[in-house]
Amino acid sequence: MANVVSRFEDAFARWLGATSAFAFWKGRVALYAILRALGVGEDDEVILPGFTCVMDVNPIKYLGARPVYVDIEPVTYNMDVRLLEGKITSRTRVILAQHTFGYPCEMDAILEIAARHGVPVIEDCCLALGSTYKGKRCGTFGLAAYWSFQWNKPFTTGIGGLATTSDSGLAARIRTICEAELHRPPAKSALMLTAERLAYRTLIFPRTTALATAAFRWLTRKGAVVGSSSAEEFSPRMAQDFFMGMSAGQARAGVRQMRRTEKNLAHRREMGRLYDRLLREAGWDVPAIPEAMDPVLVRYPVRVADKARAVAEAPKHFVELGTWFECPLHPMETPMELYGYRQGMCPVAEQACREVVNLPTHRRAGEATARRTVEFVRRIGPPRR
Ligand SMILES: Cc1ncc(COP(=O)(O)O)c(C=O)c1O
Repeated sequence: MANVVSRFEDAFARWLGATSAFAFWKGRVALYAILRALGVGEDDEVILPGFTCVMDVNPIKYLGARPVYVDIEPVTYNMDVRLLEGKITSRTRVILAQHTFGYPCEMDAILEIAARHGVPVIEDCCLALGSTYKGKRCGTFGLAAYWSFQWNKPFTTGIGGLATTSDSGLAARIRTICEAELHRPPAKSALMLTAERLAYRTLIFPRTTALATAAFRWLTRKGAVVGSSSAEEFSPRMAQDFFMGMSAGQARAGVRQMRRTEKNLAHRREMGRLYDRLLREAGWDVPAIPEAMDPVLVRYPVRVADKARAVAEAPKHFVELGTWFECPLHPMETPMELYGYRQGMCPVAEQACREVVNLPTHRRAGEATARRTVEFVRRIGPPRR
């Protein structure tokens, strides 16, 4: 019988409609595997939106390649496709299409530009499980896609990630690299993560999230828990044990979550519609999303007049409020110059960073949470233009 990691990989690939899936310790490791398999290296360029998590940029830097940032458009927070072609050079090796918050990118335009220049598209689906574009699942458009199962993601294995592809050549190259180089997760880390998943299931509800997150970050800094990112990951130098596979415990959690996926996605869709309605009633100008896109939002983004005040006050009101993304290469402590980002490079993204907070759509947040959260956000108010 196949081991549990293979069972999770197979279940996920089947659900997506891809032929191959490879499970890793984190989503960022999956991206690294894909880039390696594509032969990305020294002085190559990888295009991605300037509104992302720095952990997404690290694999590019680890390979000696250069991240090239495209500004976003303000409704879906995705790469502004009108700016994409201007970023392509003879060194461009990959375009990363990140489906931000779960809003699908304009895939037709991206694929058309990419094909014209012979550049592969890799989809960042870390926030977009279940989202569709023109009726087709995100993760099935590009040459490959990668997924994250970290705490804040559509479902969680504690931390964890997958790479998927239906390209047999690419799959073979990823497999060869994994067989030669992939580290096994240390038993101690795997066990600790199992305990953390248990604590998460028992303790984390919308009213307790802010307090629990603060405690978790403190414990991570002390090295007492397996955190989402270690201190050394805030630099573009790869740690020795970065390229690590998924543990059996993570995969077991993944297999369990796969069984609940459709319910999870239906709930998040419903929460998206509910927030649309409640925010409109509260006076927000909720932008229309293009009809081709059917997003499943991992968090519901909303712009507010005073983000700093909202973030500071939310825990006092037991409101679960997210900060994605605090700066173009989230989080705030990222030394952005080491990643080639200069202030002013992506002005639309920078404005979004100043204004956007996000609201929970997960299954522990229902209508009562949505109403309480929107009431809190209403007191802060929409941005004044
Ligand atoms: C858009 C996006 N892509 C990729 C990642 C990396 O995922 P992981 O934390 O599983 O490595 C993140 C991190 O949170 C993210 O927000």
